[in-house]
Amino acid sequence: SAQQQLIRASWQKVSANPLEHGMVLFSRLFDLNPDLLPLFQYNCKKFSTPQECLSSPEFLEHIRKVMSVIDAAVTHMENLHCLAEYLANLGKKHQAVGVKLEYFSTVGESLLFMLEQCHGPAFNMNVREAWTKLYSTVVETMACGWDV
Ligand code: HEM
Repeated sequence: SAQQQLIRASWQKVSANPLEHGMVLFSRLFDLNPDLLPLFQYNCKKFSTPQECLSSPEFLEHIRKVMSVIDAAVTHMENLHCLAEYLANLGKKHQAVGVKLEYFSTVGESLLFMLEQCHGPAFNMNVREAWTKLYSTVVETMACGWDV
C-alpha cells in the first residue's frame, strides 16, 4: 500500500545508521520522561544521568535491539502476525523489568521525533500517520504478553 511504501522509504535512511538514530530516540525519551532512566540497570548499577546511560555499552546494545525490532516490523509489516509470539514474549519481558504500557506511548512520541529530525519537512502528516499505525500495532502485540 501507499502507507507501507512511505514507511519503507523513510526507514531506509534511519536503518543505514541505527545507533545514531536510536540515540536521538532515547535522548528524547529521557527528556520527555527522566523517570524512565532507573529502569535501565546493568549489574545493578543505576545511572545518575541520561548522558551516563547513553554512553554505556549495555544500553547502546539495548538501542540496537530496539532498532532491530522496528526493522523486523518494517520488513514484516504486511504480515505482522508472524512476529506476534515474539512480540508478546518481548512484552512479557518488559513487564518483568518494570515497564508500564503507558511508557510505550512516550517511546512512540520519541520515535516520531527521531524520524522528523532525520527527514525534516519530508516527514509530513501522511508519513506520520503511517508510522503511528505501525508502531501502535507493534505495541498492541507486545501488550498481549502483559498479565493484568
Ligand atoms: C530488553 C527496558 C523499550 C526491545 C530490555 C531490558 C530492559 C529494557 C531493562 C533488559 C536489559 C537489556 O537487554 O538491555 C526497556 C524500557 C523501555 C524499552 C525501559 C521503554 C520505556 C523497548 C522497545 C523495544 C525493546 C520499544 C522494541 C520495540 C528490547 C529487546 C530486548 C530488551 C529486543 C532484549 C530482550 C531479550 O533479552 O530477549 N528492555 N525497553 N525495548 N528490549 Fe527494551
